[in-house]
Amino acid sequence: MISAVNSKHLNDSSQISASDKITSIKPDQLAKVESVLFQSDPIKPELIDELHNMVFDESRAYKDDIYHPFTQVERLYNAIVVMKSGDLGRPAENSSNGARLLNDSQGNPLYIFKGERLFENFLINDVSGAKREQLAYLLDKDHQAMVPPTFFVDLNEFKLGVGSLQHYRNDVDRGTLSENSNFLCDVSQIDQIMLRTIFIHDLLMINLDAGSNNLLMKNNCPIPIDFGYSLPCGIEERSTDSIPSFDDRPFTDKEAQYINQIDANSTLTLLKEHHIDESAINIQQNMILLLKSAVNTPGITLKDLHRLYYSCTKTGGGWSGDPRVFFKGDIKTILLSCDLNNTSILIQKALEKILANK
Ligand SMILES: Nc1ncnc2c1ncn2[C@@H]1O[C@H](COP(=O)(O)OP(=O)(O)OP(=O)(O)O)[C@@H](O)[C@H]1O
Ligand SMILES: [Mg+2]
Repeated sequence: MISAVNSKHLNDSSQISASDKITSIKPDQLAKVESVLFQSDPIKPELIDELHNMVFDESRAYKDDIYHPFTQVERLYNAIVVMKSGDLGRPAENSSNGARLLNDSQGNPLYIFKGERLFENFLINDVSGAKREQLAYLLDKDHQAMVPPTFFVDLNEFKLGVGSLQHYRNDVDRGTLSENSNFLCDVSQIDQIMLRTIFIHDLLMINLDAGSNNLLMKNNCPIPIDFGYSLPCGIEERSTDSIPSFDDRPFTDKEAQYINQIDANSTLTLLKEHHIDESAINIQQNMILLLKSAVNTPGITLKDLHRLYYSCTKTGGGWSGDPRVFFKGDIKTILLSCDLNNTSILIQKALEKILANK
C-alpha cells in the first residue's frame, strides 16, 4: 500500500547533510516533486516512477559509471522510497545479517535496506552503523571510490525502523568478489586504480569490514559496499579480511590530490552532525593526518599504508565466531593519540621507520 509521505520525514534535519554536495535538480522539477509529496491522496505508482527518474537518473549513472549528484534531494528521495515501498522486506539472498531488498513495481531490487538493529552487536558507543553507511557515501568525494548512494532513513511506518538505504546495483556480477571463499574473477585482473582509490577511502573511513567479501564486481572493476563497521570508537573491533593487495608504486597525482583535498574540519563537522562519538572522531582525525603526512613524505607508498594498517593487526576468536582485529604497534598509538601535535610526532617516527626498513 502506497501512502502519502509523512512530513516528519522531510523535517528531521538529522537526515539532511552534506549541503556542500548540491545537486543540479531543476527548480521546476523540484516544485513538481514537492507538490506531489505533499498531496494527501495515495500516489499512483507511475508518478512515483517518474519522480524517481527525476532525482536519480539511473541509466546515466550506469552508462557513465558515475552517480548523479542528487544529495540535495536526499529528503525527497527518502520520502519517495517510503512511498515506493509496496514490496518491503524480501531478505537479501547474500546477507547473513538480514539486509532487505526493496523492489520496484516490476519486482527488481532498487534499494537494499539495513536496519539499525543489525549493527547493535558491534562495539560502537554511539551505535549507528546506518549513519556510518551514509557517511561512507558522503565522504566519497566526487564518487571516486564509487560507493553507491546511501541514505540514513526512517522506515518506522513500515515497522522496519531506521536504517541505511543503499541504491542496489543490478548491473554487477552476482555476489561479491570472494563470496564463500570463491573468487568471482582473477584477482590479478582487478582494476588497480579503483582498488587503490577504494583503499584510500577505506582508510578515511577506518573501515574494519573492508575486504573482498564486500566488493561488488563489474567487469573487473570493484565497487565497495558495507560500511557499518567503520569509524570505530575504540581499537578493538571486528573485522574480516583485507582488500586484495596492490603494487608498490608511488602515489599517483590523482591520489595525492584526493588525499590533499580531504578537509579535516568539514569531515569533523559532518561526523558531529551525524552524532558520531567523540572517540571515533578523534581516531578519524588522526587517520586524516596520517594519510596527508604519508602522501607528502617522499618514498612512502600506499602499499606502505596497507602494510601499516593490516600487518599491525591480528585476528582471534570473537563475536559470533568472527575474527576480531586488534590494532597494535604504530597504528594503534597513532590512532589513539589524543593530541594532534603528538599525533604528528608519532606519524613522523612511524614513517621514518618504514623508510629505514625499505
Ligand atoms: N548496493 C548493492 N548492490 C548490489 N548488491 C548489493 C548491494 N549491497 C549489498 N549487496 C548484496 O547483498 C549482500 C549483503 O550486503 P552487505 O554486505 O552490505 O550486508 P550485510 O548484512 O552486512 O552482510 P554480511 O554481514 O554478510 O557482509 C552483499 O554481499 C551483496 O551480494
Ligand atoms: Mg557484507
